[in-house]
Amino acid sequence: SDLTGIAWRFPLIEMQGVPLRNYIVQKWSNISAFCPDPSDMLIATYPKAGTTWTQEIVDLLLHNGDEEACKRASTSDRFPFLEIQYPPPIPSGKVIYVARNAKDNLVSYYHFDRMNQAQPQPGPWEEYIQKFMRGKVAWGSWYDHVKDYWKEREKRNILYLFFEDLKKDPRREVERIMRYMDLSVTDDVIDKIVQLTSFKNMRDNPMANYTFIPKIMFDHSISPFMRRGEVGDWTNHFTPAQSQMFDEDYARQMADVDIPFCTSI
Ligand code: A3P
Repeated sequence: SDLTGIAWRFPLIEMQGVPLRNYIVQKWSNISAFCPDPSDMLIATYPKAGTTWTQEIVDLLLHNGDEEACKRASTSDRFPFLEIQYPPPIPSGKVIYVARNAKDNLVSYYHFDRMNQAQPQPGPWEEYIQKFMRGKVAWGSWYDHVKDYWKEREKRNILYLFFEDLKKDPRREVERIMRYMDLSVTDDVIDKIVQLTSFKNMRDNPMANYTFIPKIMFDHSISPFMRRGEVGDWTNHFTPAQSQMFDEDYARQMADVDIPFCTSI
């Protein structure tokens, strides 16, 4: 497609305290007026928490593990982003939320902001940590995001998942998603879905690995979208001093909740 003339690295504008790409703020009234059907489903995440992974599991469950059916279109066509591709054909009777521990989420977002030409440059690592802690990155505060959904999860019957659990016991988590969706597939199909949604398989799946986005937007040579897919990669990025500073701030920001995050498995 012809992408010349499109401005990249969209500036962020704060919308109710949440920095968002400028064009999203400009059409916010349309987005907030959207009225979902009760049969719709929303997958909600802070960026880089495991959105794509969960989308693939959900699509495979809906198609009884049919690999080819799930390659009919790219992830972003199969699961339009509510605020980017408005008007969306899906969202929210049921809500699946995916959370990822703050440090790995931050590392993943840092590398994503390097390769993603639609968001501001991350700048130096040390400064990025500060921006993340203060919620001054696109889509705002990780802390508020994971806490708000956590507090709402029972009232609204939200399925609250963790990236780390998907990694530790994918079979159990795929079964939880299946039950939440009121679906029932055979054990063989579950096994197949676990296989098809392994990091390696998704990394090599052109309909799921975001190579379908033009290179001038996502530059995988800077950092691939399917980068590492691990728990604990933060230890390769944080110095001990940065980790301590981050943990102290984390304890303050998360003092009002007890969300069982784990940072290693
Ligand atoms: P890393 O940057 O740590 O590798 P999102 O889809 O929300 O943007 O999240 C992207 C992150 O999830 C990336 O993390 C990516 O590698 C990881 N990911 C995507 N699919 C995965 C899978 N099947 N298994 C493990 N990690 C996966």
